[in-house]
Parts: sequence; C-alpha cells; structure tokens
Amino acid sequence: MTAVREHFGSRLGFILAAAGSAVGIGNLVAFPVAATKSGGGAFLLIYALFVFLICLPVMMAELALGRRSDKDPVGAYRELSNRSHLWRIPGWLALATPFMIAVFYLVVTVWVLGYLIETVTGNLDKLATPDFFIQFINTPQIFIYLVALMLVINAILAMGVKDGIERAAKTLMPMLFVMLLGLVIFVLSLENASLGLKYYLVPDFSKVDGNVISKAMAQAFFSLSLGMGIMITYGSYMKRQDSIPGSSRAVAITDTLVAFTAGLLILPSIFHFNPQIDPSELSESSAGMIFQFLPKIFLALQDGIGYVGASAVAATFFFLVLVAAITSLVSIIEVPIATLRDERRMERKKAIYLIAGVQFVLAIACAVSFGMVNWTTDFVQLAGTNKSFFDLVEIIFYDTILPLNGLLVCLFVIYKWKKANFDKELQEGDENFAGSFSQKYVNFSLGTFIPLILLLIFINTVALKFFGHSFI
Ligand code: PFF
Repeated sequence: MTAVREHFGSRLGFILAAAGSAVGIGNLVAFPVAATKSGGGAFLLIYALFVFLICLPVMMAELALGRRSDKDPVGAYRELSNRSHLWRIPGWLALATPFMIAVFYLVVTVWVLGYLIETVTGNLDKLATPDFFIQFINTPQIFIYLVALMLVINAILAMGVKDGIERAAKTLMPMLFVMLLGLVIFVLSLENASLGLKYYLVPDFSKVDGNVISKAMAQAFFSLSLGMGIMITYGSYMKRQDSIPGSSRAVAITDTLVAFTAGLLILPSIFHFNPQIDPSELSESSAGMIFQFLPKIFLALQDGIGYVGASAVAATFFFLVLVAAITSLVSIIEVPIATLRDERRMERKKAIYLIAGVQFVLAIACAVSFGMVNWTTDFVQLAGTNKSFFDLVEIIFYDTILPLNGLLVCLFVIYKWKKANFDKELQEGDENFAGSFSQKYVNFSLGTFIPLILLLIFINTVALKFFGHSFI
C-alpha cells in the first residue's frame, strides 16, 4: 500500500520553506563578500539579472518536475522519461549532489554553532585573535556540536513536511527577517556606515570581467538552491492549486532581498571598523569572512557599546547565520529522505537514521581534513595543488556538478518531458500564465540560452578546477 504523499499545508508555508532553503550562508555571507570584491552595485545588478532571467525559469522547471511526478528526483526523472535508462543519470546526480553538499555545509554550520557558543560564553575577544579559527576547528568539541546540530535538524525532519519542515520555516524565517532588520538598523546608525553603503551600492563597472560574471551566476544558482534536487522534492509537496510561477517569484524575491540586506549589514560594519579600508583586499572566501574578519569587527564595537553589547551583536549575527543554515540543511537532507521513502518504501524515521549515520561519518571525514588527520588533509592532488577531502567534496559537488544538474534539468524538461507538458504544468494553479510574456520567455530561454550558459560554466569549472586553466 502506498502512503498518501505529504504536502505543505498552505502556499505561504511552501514559500517560507523554499525561502528557508534558499536563504543560507550563501546569502548572509557569500553574497556580501562577492559584491564587495566585484564592483558593488555593478555586481548587484548582474546578480539580479541572473536571478530573474536565468535562475527563475530553472526553479520553475524543477518545481514542475517534482509536482507533476509527485516524486523524489530519482523517481521524477524515471517517471517523466518513461523509464529511460539514460535519463536516470540526472536523477541519481540530483540525489548524490544534495547528499554531499549537505556534508560540507554541515561542517561549516558546526563552526558557526561553535562560534555562537563561544560568543555567548564571553569569548568574543578570543575569536578575534588571528589563530583562533584554525585551532578551534581542530578541537574535539566540534564533534559534540556536530551531534547536537544533527539532532536538531533530524528532529525537524522526523516531524514530516507539514509539522516539521513547514512549521520550522514559519517560526524561524520571520524571526530571521526581524533579527536581520534589527541588526541592519543598528549598524546603519554607526559612524562611517555611509562610506560602506557607498562602496556597496555605487557601481564600479571597471571590476566586471568574465570571472565576475561567472561568479555572479554561480552565486545566484547556489543561492536559490538549484541543481540540488531540493526544488524537485519541494515541488512534489506542492498543492496542484498553487501557482508555480508565482511561488517561484516570491521565493526568488525573498532570497535576493535577504542577500541584499545582508550586504547592508556587512559593508557598513567593515567601514565603521576601518574607514580607510580597501575592501578588494578582503579575503575571497566566506569562511575567512565569518570566522576571521567579522569577529574582529564585532569586537571593535566594544568602544561604543561595551564588551557585552559587542558580544550581543556578534551572538545575534551568528545565531542568524545558524538559523539560515539549519533551514537550508533541513531542505537538502529531505532530498535523500524522500528518495528512500519513494524508491525503497522506507519509513521516514528509518530513512533518517540511515542517512544521518552515513552523513555523520562523512562529515567527520570533512571536519578532520584541516590538519587533524593527514590522510584526509592531503587527500588528492588537483591541478598541481594538494586538496583536502573537504575541498574535494566542495569542488566536485558544489563547483562542478551543480551547474551540470541545472543544465540537465533544462534539457530534460524541454526536450524529453517536452515543452508542452511542462507548460501545462505551469498553467495549473495559475490562470494568468497562459499567453503571458513570462510563459514565452520561460519556454524559449530554457530550451536555448540558459542551458548554453550552464554548459559554458560547467566546462570552464572543469578546466579550471581539474586542469588549472580557465577560458573566461
Ligand atoms: N541557498 C543556500 C545558501 O545560499 O546557502 C544553498 C544551500 C546550501 C541550500 C546548502 C541547502 C544546503 F544544505
């Protein structure tokens, strides 16, 4: 007997859950860092164009695949391809990718949790010292934090789609919006905040090159949780009377607004800390920003609001990032759970235990690849440099396979499942879609230039990451 498929209870519930997936470390940290280094307003503009012109149609395609098939990604590709063997491959990729991205994202989230605990227990001054980060990520405490984090995430997942995922999103997302706004208002009142705003918002097109364009595209794609099977899975929990185009737009707008607002938080803080700073010299990575640079900035606030005040601001920020990361992790781990339930008829709880067990082991392998264990620290040589196990997971699944999955979604929807079926699915629950400009644009772009762009990004990443050459 097949169990009745779980569904989100309301359209708002779906939008908040999908936005909970989309709003993550990518928005709160990676986006502001990328914008800072790549021409401020110029980057914002290119990013927004990519979100709405390229990523939004891909999101609609993923949601439509899920809702039509009522299945996890493996089942969706199987059913809608009439059981073609070749088209099983993207289904499996859309399962392996979230599984492995979850592993490295879990590790980064563990560090955020650790930083939150350190801040709350009065150690902000320690966090701001240069070697703290590398020492911290090599302490045994991180394993305890990993267990705690996995317990919270899996407890939410165990409650199911409506009572777990949707309820958590409905509680946590509004809280996240309020905290983010509160922090922004505070930061904008600081001295020299306007210098940061100017740097963030005034476009500097001289910084825009092929590299910046490809970075904006990759960031937009990751930020909307595309190519990870998440939107296919969440699509399968959507009600037929809800509009896919309308809900996708709401998710994309929310995600972009949060990313934009996070920039209003980070840049003014940096300029308050040092008005003479040249932000293009900041570290390229989000990890460098969250764990090494921001603690110094927060500590510097003590001159104005005291150590306790500075610690409270830092703790609010780390909590914010933690909440965003938890709602993202919930969505990504739901993908393999849905697959085990749909494909193997496994009970939700049993699927959770199995997945959590494997992910725990892999997350430990990632966590110890920063010096604790030599084998995982110097795991492979790629393009002439040593890469850790953590790096390898990130390079293969995040950098390389993500755009490939996006490319396969576009080709599948338009050429295998067929444009007419896809279009019909988008019209269900959306009376205004038929005949609209959006309909024409989505159908045309997904069969032409969007897959082409994703193909170019894929080829360029393979050339760069595996062979050390870039075309762009
Ligand atoms: N949209 C998420 C972000 O911007 O951080 C991407 C993501 C990463 C989703 C990891 C889920 C996840 F587990």
